[in-house]
Amino acid sequence: SGTPAIMPSMLLCDFANLGAEVRAMEDAGARGLHLDVMDGQFVDNFTYGMTIVRAVRSVTNLPLDIHLMMVEPEKYLGDFADAGADILTIHTEAVEDPKPLLKAIRERNVGAGLALNPTTPLEQIADALPLCDLVLAMSVHPGAGGQSFNPVALEKLSSLKDQVAKEVLLEVDGGVNNTTAAACGLAGAHLLVVGSAIFRHDPSEYRAKLEELTQLA
Ligand code: DX5
Ligand code: ZN
Repeated sequence: SGTPAIMPSMLLCDFANLGAEVRAMEDAGARGLHLDVMDGQFVDNFTYGMTIVRAVRSVTNLPLDIHLMMVEPEKYLGDFADAGADILTIHTEAVEDPKPLLKAIRERNVGAGLALNPTTPLEQIADALPLCDLVLAMSVHPGAGGQSFNPVALEKLSSLKDQVAKEVLLEVDGGVNNTTAAACGLAGAHLLVVGSAIFRHDPSEYRAKLEELTQLA
């Protein structure tokens, strides 16, 4: 896995200039992009679906890490895969049993990710871990950018490190910034999702922000 990668969360980008934002992030050295799908049911907030994923795919070859904050994700896995997802992450709280969905994602040759909220214990996903290509420990309650980091995610990452195969990507999402990135890296995160700590800056600063965070992680 090597150096942890910063995954910009496009949630807070300028959507009126989506193509330019994606290219700016690519030019800034991003190794992948994190896209937050919210359905107004699993979380209050409502963002976008496969149309935007397809639009992003049409302007970049970067890996697309799709975070599905939605109920009944099984209905749309095919659409998101066809739209160009490289990783599809479902929430354990949104489904009765994540295992058949993780299998269905893998059958489409897409990486299968499983996310858990800060309040959800790791034990809840123990039996699904062998079917995961990525595990996402949320460090905020999902639904909005700009919240503060909940360190409960660090304990989960540390414990996951001992429970999963080396190839499994460990990801943390929410409140990651210059103050919290180092602890995420130490805890074993391979992917650090960062929204506001990048997007509250001008595009001309994206590269510097990514480099700073990568150094810290
Ligand atoms: C929260 C989303 C995150 C969010 C991160 O529900 O999953 O990806 O955009 O934003 P920051 O880095 O501002 O917490
Ligand atoms: Zn996210």
